[in-house]
Amino acid sequence: MNILVVGSGGREHAIIMKLSESPMVEKIYAAPGNGGISKFAECFDVSATDIDGMVELAKKLNPDLVVVAPDDPLVLGMVDEMQKAGFKTFGPKKNAAIIEGSKIFSKELMKKYNIPTGGYEVFDDSEKAIEYIKAQNSYPTVIKADGLALGKGVIIAQNEDEAVEAVKSMIDGGKFGKSGSRVVVEEFLTGPEVSVLSFTDGKTLVPMISSMDHKRALDNDEGLNTGGMGTVAPNPYYTSDIAKECMEKIFIPTINAMNAEGRTFEGCLYFGLMLTPKGPKVIEYNCRFGDPETQVVLPMLEGDLAEIFLACYNHTLADCKISWKSGFSTCVVMASGGYPVSYKKGIEMFGMDEKGQVEDAFVYHAGTKLENNKFYTNGGRVLGITCFGLTLDAALERSYTAVKKISFDGAFYRNDIGQRAKKALVENKDILDLDYKEDMENYISENGVYLRQ
Ligand code: AMP
Ligand code: GLY
Repeated sequence: MNILVVGSGGREHAIIMKLSESPMVEKIYAAPGNGGISKFAECFDVSATDIDGMVELAKKLNPDLVVVAPDDPLVLGMVDEMQKAGFKTFGPKKNAAIIEGSKIFSKELMKKYNIPTGGYEVFDDSEKAIEYIKAQNSYPTVIKADGLALGKGVIIAQNEDEAVEAVKSMIDGGKFGKSGSRVVVEEFLTGPEVSVLSFTDGKTLVPMISSMDHKRALDNDEGLNTGGMGTVAPNPYYTSDIAKECMEKIFIPTINAMNAEGRTFEGCLYFGLMLTPKGPKVIEYNCRFGDPETQVVLPMLEGDLAEIFLACYNHTLADCKISWKSGFSTCVVMASGGYPVSYKKGIEMFGMDEKGQVEDAFVYHAGTKLENNKFYTNGGRVLGITCFGLTLDAALERSYTAVKKISFDGAFYRNDIGQRAKKALVENKDILDLDYKEDMENYISENGVYLRQ
C-alpha cells in the first residue's frame, strides 16, 4: 500500500512511524509534513486545509489510502472530497466531524441522547449570556466558543469580570471570528481528566488505551494553556470499572446517537472525559487523534495500523486484532522559549541522529524543518519524546534521559510529566486494578465490540 497522510505535527509523525511498521505499507507520503517526518515519508508542500490542492496531490500520487489527521480539514469536509475523487480515506465525513466542529451540536447531541455532560446554555447575544451568568452566580464558570479556535476557545472564568470579558470578546469582539459568535456557557466540572481515543467504523467501536495530557506550560500545572506539554498512557485514574461505565454510558450511546442522526462517524473519535464525583462526563469530543495523546497511545498498539485504518473505511473493524502493550509509555514535549505566546523559529537543533531520532526513544517531530541535512525549530511545540517502561517511573526516566540528549537555544520542557499519574498510582493503590487492559480486552470480546443490529 501507498498511503498519503495529511498534517504536519507530532501526531502525524506518530501515525506515520506506526504505519511504517506495517508489512502492508510500501510508501508513505505526507502533506505538508515537517523535517522529522521527511525522514519517514516523502513530503509535499500542500497546506492541510487546502482541500482542492490536497485532492490534486492525491490524483498525482494515486495512494491506496488517504489519512486525514487534523481537525480543520476534517471539519471542512476533506474526507468527502477525497472519497468523491475515488480515494479510500480514513477520517469522518463533514457531517460527522461536526461533533468537534460545533460545541453546540455536541452539547445538544448529548442532551438529546442522555449522554452525561455538564449542564449548559447556548447564547448568541452577549447581554443575555451575561444576564444568565449573573443569575447563576457560580464561579468558576466555563465559556466555550462554538467553533474551532485553535484549541483556545475554552475560557474558565474565575469571577464575574472574567466571564463578562470572555463573553464580550467572543460574541461582540469577534475573537475567534465566526467560531465565537455563538457560545456555550457550561457548568464547571471537577475531577481527573482522561483522554480516550477510539477506532470506529460506525458499527464497531474499539477504545484505545487511555491517556493523560498535561495542558499547562509550566510545572505544577502553572502557566498558560498549551496544545499539550506531555502525556502518559495508560491513565491510572481510568480503572476497569470506569472503562466499563464509559463504554456503556458514553461511547456506545455516542456511536448510536450519531447513527440515529444520519451522521455515522468513521475514523478516530476522541472522548475528553472528566471523572466527576457524579461519574464520568464528557468535556469534549474531538473528531480525530489527540496531540500529544497519539504520541503515547500508538506506540502501545499491537496491531497493524494500516489494516485498522482500512477496516474503518471498509466497515470491517470487528475483524481486526487490536491489543495493547503492557506497562506505560510517556511523552515529554520540548518547546521553544516563549511558547505558547511568541517564539523564534529557525533555531539549530543538536543531538539527534541522521533520522532525527535518539537511541531507545521515539522522537516525534512537531515543529521542525530540515535544511542542508540539519534540523531547525519551526514551531512552538518542537518535539515529543516517547519511551516505554514496565513501570511509569522507568518510562519517565527513559523519556527524560532522551530529552537531555537533545538541545537547542531556548528549549524548555516540563519536569513533572507523569507526577500526577504517579500520585494516583500511590494514593489509589487499593482501588486501582492495573490489569484493566486484560479486563478490557475480555470485556470488548464479550460486549465491547458493538455491532449494529
Ligand atoms: P480544550 O477544549 O482542549 O481547549 O480544553 C479545555 C480544557 O478546559 C479541558 O481540557 C478542561 O481541562 C477544561 N474544561 C473544559 N470544560 C470544562 C468544564 N465544564 N469544567 C471544567 N473544566 C473544563
Ligand atoms: N491534546 C488535546 C487535543 O488534541 O485536543
